Amino acid sequence: MTWVMTWVLNAAAAIAFVLAAIGAEPCRAQTLTGSVASVAEGAMEGVLVSAQQAGSPISVTVVSDEHGRFRFPDGRLQAGHYTLRIRAVGYDLAGPQAVDLGATTADVAITLRKTPDLSAQLTNTEWFISMPGTAEQKRPLIECMSCHSFQRIARSTYNAEEFVPVLKRMAQYANNSTPARVQPRIAEREVNDAAVRKLAAYLATINLSGGPVWSYELQTLPRPKGRATHVVITEYDMPRQTIAPHDVRTDGEGHIWYSDFVESFLGELDPKTGALHEYPIPVLKPDFPTGTLDLEPDGDGNLWLALMFQTGLARFDMKTKTFRIFPLDGVPNDDAMQQSMVMPRAAKVDGTVWTNDVARQQIMRLDLETGKYQRIDPFTLLSKDRIHAPYGMTADAKNNLYFMDFGDENIGRVDAKTNAVTIYPTPTARSRPRRCMLDDQGRLWFTEFAGNKLGMFDTKTETFKEWNVPTPHTYPYDVFADNNGELWSGGMASDRVLRFDPRSGSSVEYLLPRPTNIRRVFVDTTTKPVTFWVGNNHGAEIVRLEPLD
Ligand code: HEC
Repeated sequence: MTWVMTWVLNAAAAIAFVLAAIGAEPCRAQTLTGSVASVAEGAMEGVLVSAQQAGSPISVTVVSDEHGRFRFPDGRLQAGHYTLRIRAVGYDLAGPQAVDLGATTADVAITLRKTPDLSAQLTNTEWFISMPGTAEQKRPLIECMSCHSFQRIARSTYNAEEFVPVLKRMAQYANNSTPARVQPRIAEREVNDAAVRKLAAYLATINLSGGPVWSYELQTLPRPKGRATHVVITEYDMPRQTIAPHDVRTDGEGHIWYSDFVESFLGELDPKTGALHEYPIPVLKPDFPTGTLDLEPDGDGNLWLALMFQTGLARFDMKTKTFRIFPLDGVPNDDAMQQSMVMPRAAKVDGTVWTNDVARQQIMRLDLETGKYQRIDPFTLLSKDRIHAPYGMTADAKNNLYFMDFGDENIGRVDAKTNAVTIYPTPTARSRPRRCMLDDQGRLWFTEFAGNKLGMFDTKTETFKEWNVPTPHTYPYDVFADNNGELWSGGMASDRVLRFDPRSGSSVEYLLPRPTNIRRVFVDTTTKPVTFWVGNNHGAEIVRLEPLD
């Protein structure tokens, strides 16, 4: 009898073991589900629920549906102790603040309470919508978001007179500045005193100089609903607050590469583990601001960086993991010199790489064999009273350059053979085209930053199309056309990723879990549905957004 019992017990244990090995995989099977509700609204749709395991740089976020229910996809969370966060404008998390995931599925009832300080939750877009004032009065403020959010401005107490020196101080900071790392310019910038005073007078009407509360009502954008809740967002925290990921892209091995706008590194993220590897870029000008902007692959898949105030270009060899620097040669390299863009895409055709000179508003062309840079002034025929600035760049298969005139309202083309420049004004005046991409049908997709539009320039027919983005004051920075004919965009203002179908005009806006200053956007089209990647330039994180449909 005894041996029979023993056998039965052993068999049961063996079956349990087998089940655990094939089905349960103790570390991966946990699922977190739950509901979100508040006294004010009952069950709530469109609340972002984030879970971050203690000690891990990775947070995973899902969004509650129309019944207030949420579910983390199977296998995304391992057993452990998780901190919970929420995002729902107007609300704070009442509880629970954390959850322990064990061997089984956990179901949590999350409750929200009204926030005592709505102003702390407003996006830049919501400040823009809330603030009284004309479009012309607000227009200069689109610059301020490059370095910090509107909280600083709206919560300040300076009157018009006191604001003047603050604004003049801002003008002397290099673009590669954030409150976490201030980098002064070496060459002093001229400021237009009258324009500064006008802006200061306006700002004193929208901040707290008149008293402890704003003279206008704080407006908020609606929470996500329907399709905008069908998404999983993964955030990868970086180890230092001073890391400022600017341009982001994947390689063939599923790793993420980014330029760091503030520190002198090229970064590589392994999204499976969240591990970060930083490759130090040689510092050419030790007293000058550090940080790079444009990150672009050449025909061999090696990565190029525009070195900003360090000047010149860098090529990173993906096999040897080493840099070759192309310092400025054959052109003046003064204190104001700055390269923000690089375009090596078709360099093989003629051995040249495109870049820009931000201070002199010119295009430059690097000859890879001689290391010399040639200058092209693309705006010679345009009025000198207007500000021009060559910014986003791409090249076609023959290495003809297309560039955005970010200062004004033009798309430019430089002929690869003759260097002849053609300027095409956008239909929208003062649109300030920013970054771009060229698809394989010769369509140049771009954003109109100040125009609040997405644009397309057909390089074959030389005609434009433009689409308003759905939310006012979004100020899109960049756009990516995926392989399904959809456009993906984002910017520094709204903390939302825009998915836009230019054929139907329909759109989805995915809210991100934290304040996210978006620059270059990237779509990995090897997954189904596609996967959207972006750096959070002010938040020291990389963000992956996976739509579920
Ligand atoms: C090139 C980067 C940059 C830009 C552009 C910028 N700022 Fe700032 N700003 C900073 C930094 C860095 C700080 C924190 C250090 C400081 O106060 O000098 C700051 C601080 C501030 C503060 C708080 C100052 C204080 O004394 O408390 C205000 C207000 C402000 N900025 C307003 C603006 C406005 C308005 C604009 C746009 C017209 C703007 N900033 C554009 C970098 C910038």
